[in-house]
Amino acid sequence: MNDEGDTPTLDRAREMDAADPLSDLRDRFHVPEGELYMDGNSLGPLSVDAEAALDHVVGEWRELGIHGWTDADPDWFTYGERLGDRLAPLVGAGPEEVVVANSTTVNIHTLVGTFYDPERGEKIVVDALDFPTDHYAIRAQLRQRGVDPDEALRVVESRDGRTIETEDVLAAIDDDVGMVFLPSVLYRSGQLFDIEAITDAAHDAGALAGFDLAHSVGVIPHELSAIGVDFAVWCHYKYLNAGPGAIAGLYVNERHFGVSPSLAGWWGNDKETQFDMALTYDPAHSAGAFQIGTIPILAAAPLDGTLDVVEDAGGVAALREKSLALTEFLIDLVDERLPECEVGTPRDPAARGGHVAIEHPEAYRLSLALKERGVVVDFRPPNVVRVAPAPAYVGFEDVFRAVEHLREILDGKEYEQFETRSGGVT
Ligand SMILES: Cc1ncc(COP(=O)(O)O)c(C=O)c1O
Repeated sequence: MNDEGDTPTLDRAREMDAADPLSDLRDRFHVPEGELYMDGNSLGPLSVDAEAALDHVVGEWRELGIHGWTDADPDWFTYGERLGDRLAPLVGAGPEEVVVANSTTVNIHTLVGTFYDPERGEKIVVDALDFPTDHYAIRAQLRQRGVDPDEALRVVESRDGRTIETEDVLAAIDDDVGMVFLPSVLYRSGQLFDIEAITDAAHDAGALAGFDLAHSVGVIPHELSAIGVDFAVWCHYKYLNAGPGAIAGLYVNERHFGVSPSLAGWWGNDKETQFDMALTYDPAHSAGAFQIGTIPILAAAPLDGTLDVVEDAGGVAALREKSLALTEFLIDLVDERLPECEVGTPRDPAARGGHVAIEHPEAYRLSLALKERGVVVDFRPPNVVRVAPAPAYVGFEDVFRAVEHLREILDGKEYEQFETRSGGVT
């Protein structure tokens, strides 16, 4: 039951869709006919805006060839910085503090590699429910320094296997800690962390605070500069719908401008002197310094289009408002219609990201049965069906229908037609 005491019925879903100021945005997305697409926290669908931006760049490549670096509109040479300017309001940062570059994993390597300083504190605080690539990258960076990752990583454990208590994070931060690196939202349960409390605690202990915003950028507003977060990374292929393997983003607080990145490359050189071709690196005095090689324009252009969608929505705050209403509606439905399932996502809106973890021992086969019926979700081991009602193109009736499909699958034991899990992409 939600705040107004409304039961989650089909009529209620239709009323909420009719009252939804963002409902028209859906027409801008290519969601396959007949599919309920609830996997936008893994890969968002193509929008007409992203397609047009990509077509535009392909046309410029055809017409301009190499002149596109300077003569394209917008020019390709400063494309990463310009997209950073457009992204800055989404994460609450100054334009110079944001750039698009590399992949998320590479950005963790370069930012952790740059900012890890054992003299500040040998330990790095992470948590036990992180997305694996974050740990792989941090561990590799520690090994490069001759530091044993098993010694240096301070892993905050989960009490319930789903979430991490803020008080446990804060208790892990002491004078031995030089860096805290955590997600904004846990990829499995969808828990949203208290970025401000964690950043303040890190700073009080003389440590730096970095965050992986992969599961929040574009669906949850951030205030990175105001909070004073030191650095952050994220991808654009989830809620920002910029396409498979789209270029990633990063933020570096302005107080760190001028530092020399651990993974230096000519694309991070000061743009004024880049083509002097000096053999010594002259880092840009901005987050742009963390670019490495030539920007992959074809992997960046769709983002230029999808940012129009965010702006037309009225910004991330408007998307967040709808997202919270959608996830609340979904949670109410699970409570009411799926008593054999559990909600693994925090119910407190202040601790909830953009997706809902529906837990069931048969989650893997349930996710396959849902996909067979055109309900696109994903499975995360051991027992989670992740359902992401992304606010730009999912409506309340879609959520209602997805839950009804799951009810029918459970009633008819339809999942029993599928093999149990044996690895591979799910
Ligand atoms: C929290 C988080 N970090 C990082 C990644 C992946 O990084 P990359 O884009 O480098 O593959 C993901 C992918 O889903 C993720 O969920």
